[in-house]
Amino acid sequence: MKGLILSGGKGTRLYPLTFTSAKQLIPVANKPVLFRVIESIRDAGITEIGIVVGDTAPDIKAAVGRGGRWGVKITYIHQEQPLGLAHAVKVSRDFLGEDRFVMFLGDNVIQGGISPLIEQFAASDWNSQIVLTRVSHPEQYGVAELDDEGRIVRLIEKPKHPPSDLALVGIYMFDHNIHTAVNNITPSWRGELEITDAIQWLVENGYQVYPYIHRGWWIDTGRPGDMLEANGLVLEELEPSVAGYIDRDSEVDGRVTVEKGAEIINSVVRGPTIIGERTRIVNSYVGPFTSIYHDVLIENSEIERAIVLEHSEIRDIPARIQDSVIGRHVSLIRSPIKPKAYKLTLGDYSKVGIL
Ligand code: G1P
Repeated sequence: MKGLILSGGKGTRLYPLTFTSAKQLIPVANKPVLFRVIESIRDAGITEIGIVVGDTAPDIKAAVGRGGRWGVKITYIHQEQPLGLAHAVKVSRDFLGEDRFVMFLGDNVIQGGISPLIEQFAASDWNSQIVLTRVSHPEQYGVAELDDEGRIVRLIEKPKHPPSDLALVGIYMFDHNIHTAVNNITPSWRGELEITDAIQWLVENGYQVYPYIHRGWWIDTGRPGDMLEANGLVLEELEPSVAGYIDRDSEVDGRVTVEKGAEIINSVVRGPTIIGERTRIVNSYVGPFTSIYHDVLIENSEIERAIVLEHSEIRDIPARIQDSVIGRHVSLIRSPIKPKAYKLTLGDYSKVGIL
């Protein structure tokens, strides 16, 4: 079996973070979402992985490389325009050949591995298997209608009146018949070739498509709020460890991971939380569900339920920072220089909530 990861897309809902970096590279619990996806495919025993890339290809290639770090072989596949998930399968035709494959959206985070699922499909003669999960807003997803025996009757992309609350999770398994399906569908109202329509084509043409109902959590990290939620859920499952330095005046609980070279000085850190490599927390409070990436300084400040990316600096902030995603090389500093005012240099589409 092969793996296919979709990492195109512009990530507009995560502006301004995604002006300068691919959305799949934003870390949750200090590891880019895309790396988590690669690991879960690798853990299922798949070593040949194709990554479909678009505008952010240089970024993704620089971060992922050829896959040696994970013991896998990565092939990059260019998709000129984000014309839909079924279009991504089309452009991957040469890489996929006649093999069975698992397709995984590069910005999805799912609880537990996908090994049992892949093993089940690899050993079967099914043509496709799709992963479904119950959601509270099915109209935002592809939705499945099942019959009394749990077989798929119909799939619809973002229906106005959803027939069920079972959404298609961004994990799909296919055999070579999907290539015929993607050639037999036309673009949807949003101008995309929908994988949902291709699977519906398989169902209508008598191919065997089986559902798998996922019962753990699953997050499509499209918006900053989703990133924070995924971050909290992954942190809760992280096995804590301390490789950095904690001074005697600090209070750090057992659910905190302190990475190599990190320093916690005269501070209180409450887990689940991760403090990245070479990051310094000085005279500060870091509360639960926070991931501070590498080479960050937090001094005389309080932060909770947040993600802070690398090389940023937060100093002398009088109010607690909360529910926040802070990009790379950001300076958030109380300024002593008059006039006493908020002095902001914000990128396009920045969002700031002031007390
Ligand atoms: C895509 C699929 C949709 C699926 C969703 C999962 O939606 O088209 O069927 O439920 O991923 O994240 P999109 O993110 O393109 O809106």
